Amino acid sequence: MEHYYYCCSSTGRMMQQGGRITTVAARLSAASAASSPRFFCKLAAGVATSSKSLHNLSSSSISSSSSSSSVRCSAASSSAVTEQEVPAASVRPVIRRVGRGSKLVGCGSAVPTNIISNDDLSKVVDTSDEWIAVRTGIRNRHVLAEGETVTSLSVEASKKALEMANVNPEDIDLLLLCTSTPDDLFGSAPQVQKELGCCNALAFDLTAACSGFVLGLITASRFIKGGGYENVLVIGADALSRYVDWMDRGTCILFGDAAGALVLQAVGDDQDSLLGFNLRSDGGGQKHLHVRVDNVPDTSHNGAATNGTKTNGTVIKLPARASYDCLQMNGKEVFRFAVRAVPQVIEAALQEAGLTGANLDWLLLHQANQRILDSVSQRLEIPTDKVISNLCNYGNTSAASIPLALDEAVRSGLVQPGHIVATAGFGAGLTWGSAIVRWS
Ligand code: ACO
Repeated sequence: MEHYYYCCSSTGRMMQQGGRITTVAARLSAASAASSPRFFCKLAAGVATSSKSLHNLSSSSISSSSSSSSVRCSAASSSAVTEQEVPAASVRPVIRRVGRGSKLVGCGSAVPTNIISNDDLSKVVDTSDEWIAVRTGIRNRHVLAEGETVTSLSVEASKKALEMANVNPEDIDLLLLCTSTPDDLFGSAPQVQKELGCCNALAFDLTAACSGFVLGLITASRFIKGGGYENVLVIGADALSRYVDWMDRGTCILFGDAAGALVLQAVGDDQDSLLGFNLRSDGGGQKHLHVRVDNVPDTSHNGAATNGTKTNGTVIKLPARASYDCLQMNGKEVFRFAVRAVPQVIEAALQEAGLTGANLDWLLLHQANQRILDSVSQRLEIPTDKVISNLCNYGNTSAASIPLALDEAVRSGLVQPGHIVATAGFGAGLTWGSAIVRWS
């Protein structure tokens, strides 16, 4: 029997040793007697839908267990704000059809204006353009400039995706913001929703580091398949520049900031653009890549009285106020994990789709390191001219990297209607997964 776990938390990283989501969920699973958990993720608004479990349920049980109206009720019921501030509930009828497919109808992306080159970094740490380019393929990365945020990039990317999809903001009924670096610990999706005018949408964050977009894509498709949702906006956005130690040459060379967005639309099951998928996680690998909570030493009067121990300023023993440590990574281990695990999930997703590597038009991996892209494509025997790569210009943009690269490939005419693309995300948690999709 298969088991599924969801950790609904806005403070997941506050658990000791917590890699924000997946590790919390993984620790829960480790503490339970259940075996072989399949998929862990954290949903910031406390709303969960199962990917495989919805996939496997019968139509009637989906209708009763995953009602979109109950989801909307929970989002609207807890407000302490005045009535004028609460948007009117949607009056559009929800026709709860199940078993439908998802079509990819629009994409968009946005990057910060501030560009940092390898030469710029070599003035700060002991490195060189040559070392970074040879070991990673990266030459430039964009990082947030003043006034730019994860929310503003997400809004810009989403506007472009909505325009391409020819979908009005008010017709979006679900907005998923896949990010590990929200502007607000409680989640930034509702702010993106507000800025876009998606007044009929439920919006919440989903956190799974560099796998976030693939997990968000599958989650969105399950809401369409089992929840009666029509138009879903999935955004991958991250600003790891806020968590990188810019004096650590082992990590600061890799990351950049960006956002990418995709609009999914409900279609008949026979037109489903999601052909197969496979998602995995393993909290045991969290030690190799994490941004952990770092309790802030108490400098208040009461704190001083505690002789240096960390408190929150009270005499009662309570949790200390927390901030986050810088990103810590064992690059070699993450590299080994990626080149071993990513081909496996792609092959599993291809098998579910009834396809082989020969059927693929494009391989679109999370843009972490050119050597990882090369190694995975070699293992899958996919020629290099079918591998989408733009990390030279942006570095590793975490959850944004796949939709950013997809958007560039679609707008430049590389990816054409009907093309089959194998996507795969991998990263902290550890989490990894693949989705085989057909571009509309
Ligand atoms: N410039 C110059 N020298 C460097 C630099 C640098 N920026 N960084 C490390 N070195 C040195 C090291 O000190 C070491 O020197 P030594 O041999 O004298 O000890 C030497 O270069 C080799 O270092 P390695 O760490 O072995 O280099 P490696 O070839 O493994 O490349 C890298 C390091 C680029 C980090 C690589 O391991 C990698 O890309 N790993 C995958 C990381 C990844 O994809 N992470 C993101 C996952 S996504 C997410 O969820 C956030």
